[in-house]
Amino acid sequence: MDTKAKKLTNEVGAPVAENEHSLTAGPRGPVMMQDVWLMEKLAHFDREVIPERRMHAKGWGAYGTFECTEDISAFTKAKVLQKGTKTDLFVRFSTVAGERGAADAERDIRGVAIKFYTEEGNWDLVGNNTPTFFLRDVHNFPDLNRAVKRDPQTGMRSAQNNWDFWTLLPETFHQTTVVMSDRGIPASFRHMNLYGEHTFSFYNKDNERFWCKFHFITQQGIKNLTDEEAGALIAKDRESHGRDLYESIVKGEYPRWTMYVQIMTEEQARNHYENPFDITKIWRHKEFPLQKVGVLELNRNPENYFAEVEQSAFTPAHVVPGIGFSPDKFLQGRLFVYGDAQRYRLGINYNQIPVNRPKVEVHDYHRDGLMRTDGNYGGAPAYSPNSMGDWAAQPDVMEPPLDLSGAMYAYDPQDDPTDDCFRAGGDLWRVLKEDKRELLIGNTARNIASVMENIKYRHAVHCYWADEEYGIRITEAMGLDLNRVLELAEPHSHEKLIQATLN
Ligand code: HEM
Repeated sequence: MDTKAKKLTNEVGAPVAENEHSLTAGPRGPVMMQDVWLMEKLAHFDREVIPERRMHAKGWGAYGTFECTEDISAFTKAKVLQKGTKTDLFVRFSTVAGERGAADAERDIRGVAIKFYTEEGNWDLVGNNTPTFFLRDVHNFPDLNRAVKRDPQTGMRSAQNNWDFWTLLPETFHQTTVVMSDRGIPASFRHMNLYGEHTFSFYNKDNERFWCKFHFITQQGIKNLTDEEAGALIAKDRESHGRDLYESIVKGEYPRWTMYVQIMTEEQARNHYENPFDITKIWRHKEFPLQKVGVLELNRNPENYFAEVEQSAFTPAHVVPGIGFSPDKFLQGRLFVYGDAQRYRLGINYNQIPVNRPKVEVHDYHRDGLMRTDGNYGGAPAYSPNSMGDWAAQPDVMEPPLDLSGAMYAYDPQDDPTDDCFRAGGDLWRVLKEDKRELLIGNTARNIASVMENIKYRHAVHCYWADEEYGIRITEAMGLDLNRVLELAEPHSHEKLIQATLN
């Protein structure tokens, strides 16, 4: 649109005579319906807010590139991951629980959604700044958000609801430990690592499949804020993460992350000591070392926040040949929900919005729908197959078959004898240096302070099961009775612990 003329027009380009004084019947009289420009202005204003994302509502974005610097063609044929390929991308960072107006420097996980505009179509990697997640069954996800968002009665955020929910689901333990650690409040988006979290798959040109996890390690170094620092920062700047990202790009200090993958063969997965497709578990680096892939750089700010950041839309369902999914139950649920959310939030043609539009031509036969803004494929055939030979399916990109077995049932992963919800959290405690342990204990004690005592006991027992010292120190910090914790910790049964600590 030509904005240079600097002359006001209405929505169809006709000149507007007056923009400050309403048309009234006499100098003190009522406003006329005939002031159609005023009606148009108000009607547009009334509709300017689109639904915010159910989670990750507060976010910031930037454009950049990904350059693949290493040869990983043995694992994947994805063109974006071939050595020497440089791909444009857009990233949206977010906090999770807060609404659109929330402060950036809150204790929370951070979302990171990356849209790679590859020459084989868009690949979206929709991850977080933590290597694992709270939950592993999609059923629990809406409930997690109800627990961490506002209480239905008071309209306030509630530590009681958070901790009640978390401690009833022991698989949340590792992630809760991460969120309460020094990493729970990153100093900025630039100073944190980014993770795909799920197990995804790769397949190479010979159609051999590998399982993989994505890691992006910050080249700026990890930097976090204490509760006190975050409180002081929020008091003077609610947009600290967005400002930091924007200004660093303006200054030419482009943030960079090195991308690594962990690879597991299908054979290794079959023999792994725990479920390699459980998003609450890590793959230990010693067993599955990080392999370097390339460098992601952010180097251009959006021109318009609403058009590019608010209207950006990501879904893990968008993959390209050479990259696929896995039996991860949680990932399977996410494959449905994002497109569904975006069709509601932005409309069925949301991929025509410039920030979401792929750089390659799209030939999908989808037609019509609200806000179709391209030529709607003109007179091209509307059905497939057709005798014109248009837009045939491409069997050469079919991924290798995957053997699945088992009876249909609502399985509880805790019934799997290899399942240990506390190992990863215990491992994390054991690698933390003393200053980090102190922060973890202090942050947790402050965060849980207002919560009912039975729930504190549940958390103390979880910490004790993860690591004896972790359990003893959190018990002291929360002012609980260690004998009671030891009593509850024996026998090692989560079900019995819950029974003993219900209200
Ligand atoms: C089954 C579990 C999950 C469900 C049902 C779910 C659902 C959603 C929904 C509905 C949105 C809003 C989408 C929109 O309106 O555009 C969203 C955003 C997001 N989710 Fe999830 N989510 C799940 C798990 C996860 C996990 C495990 C991660 C990280 C690995 C994650 C990362 C994100 C990110 C980064 C965004 C923001 C995307 C953006 O910037 O637009 N989510 N999620």
